[in-house]
Amino acid sequence: MNYSKKLSLPNGFVKYPTVLSPMAGVTDPPFRRLIRELSQDRMGILVSEFISTDGCDPFSLKNRKQASFSQEERPFGIQIFGRDPERMANAAAMIETLSPDFIEINAGCPVPKVAGKGGGAGLLKDLPRLRKIIAEVRRVIRLPLTLKCRLGWDEESINVMETLAIAEGEGIHWLTVHGRTRVQGYNGFADWEKIGEVASQAKIPVIGNGDVVSALGAIEVMNRYPVAGVAIGRGALHNPWLFGQIASLCDGKEVSPISAREVVQTFFRYYDLMIEIGAFPEGALGRLKQLAARLCKGFSPSLPNFRQDLLVSQSVDAFMERAKMFMESECDGYYFEPERLLNLNGKSSEEIIFERQFKR
Ligand SMILES: Cc1cc2nc3c(=O)[nH]c(=O)nc-3n(C[C@H](O)[C@H](O)[C@H](O)COP(=O)(O)O)c2cc1C
Repeated sequence: MNYSKKLSLPNGFVKYPTVLSPMAGVTDPPFRRLIRELSQDRMGILVSEFISTDGCDPFSLKNRKQASFSQEERPFGIQIFGRDPERMANAAAMIETLSPDFIEINAGCPVPKVAGKGGGAGLLKDLPRLRKIIAEVRRVIRLPLTLKCRLGWDEESINVMETLAIAEGEGIHWLTVHGRTRVQGYNGFADWEKIGEVASQAKIPVIGNGDVVSALGAIEVMNRYPVAGVAIGRGALHNPWLFGQIASLCDGKEVSPISAREVVQTFFRYYDLMIEIGAFPEGALGRLKQLAARLCKGFSPSLPNFRQDLLVSQSVDAFMERAKMFMESECDGYYFEPERLLNLNGKSSEEIIFERQFKR
């Protein structure tokens, strides 16, 4: 593995070259803690969901649920997005008082209500503005500042090398590159050759992102391209044990199989973590179903009725009762094989297609 540019923070090297990529509506504190716990603390970095800096005063920002985190999550970064350099700087200064390990600027979000207004991936259409935002934020904080971007706005305006140059010039600590354009959204495949090109030219560490769904896949891209690590988003929802499995391979150990019982036990732990931060049972039920919908698809042999029963549960009690019944009398002989559901975007081709999800 190419560790020439190891990920580090002021208090030392990051233990493993892995990042749980931020996902709004998914990577909240209970999910992040679950992911770190399931890795047995053998993963790299956790990042918050993105936090808007538009139209909010510093006080409401400080109280934002998305900015809260626990000490167990460290190393942990808070990600912000917006289009206004002054607001971004004010937000960053406020967030610094919460003492995360780093602050990240989002230049990758493709959704129209963010990118269409010039924030997120919209900044890739206006690199002078991106430079100004980085410079203003850098001026007011002492914490490391990182950047997450896409390859460019569309296939005709790939400008990730210019983004890299700006990042390096303005003191960005590391750059995460999601190997798609904004108009691609989540369609097609991430272009790892391009990510590799960025990483090989960069003086700062580059983290590659896009379509990593297995431990072997993670090791493969880290061997093939000079990235300092991989950021994994959707793959963590399909296989929350992925980070520990990558760590095992990094340490020269074997990846142990996960039983269906362990999967179902995870639902109980996830629920406890949600209740600990004050979640309402109705909200928690939605999140439990979000996880169960994916994980139970990976059961081998397949067990469609169990998955269906969980998904139609009308209450947390009903969900948990069904889960307990499974653990008590049905789970022997069932394994979890996430490879069964690893196609994140429903395509079988290996070809990189700049298929559009969003309008230009
Ligand atoms: C539901 C969802 C929410 C996301 N929210 C964010 C976000 O808040 N900030 C961000 O930088 N990226 C966000 N992303 C993008 C992911 O972090 C990641 O870059 C992308 O999914 C590609 O990686 P993957 O193939 O490993 O999922 C989101 C992705 C998804 C699917």
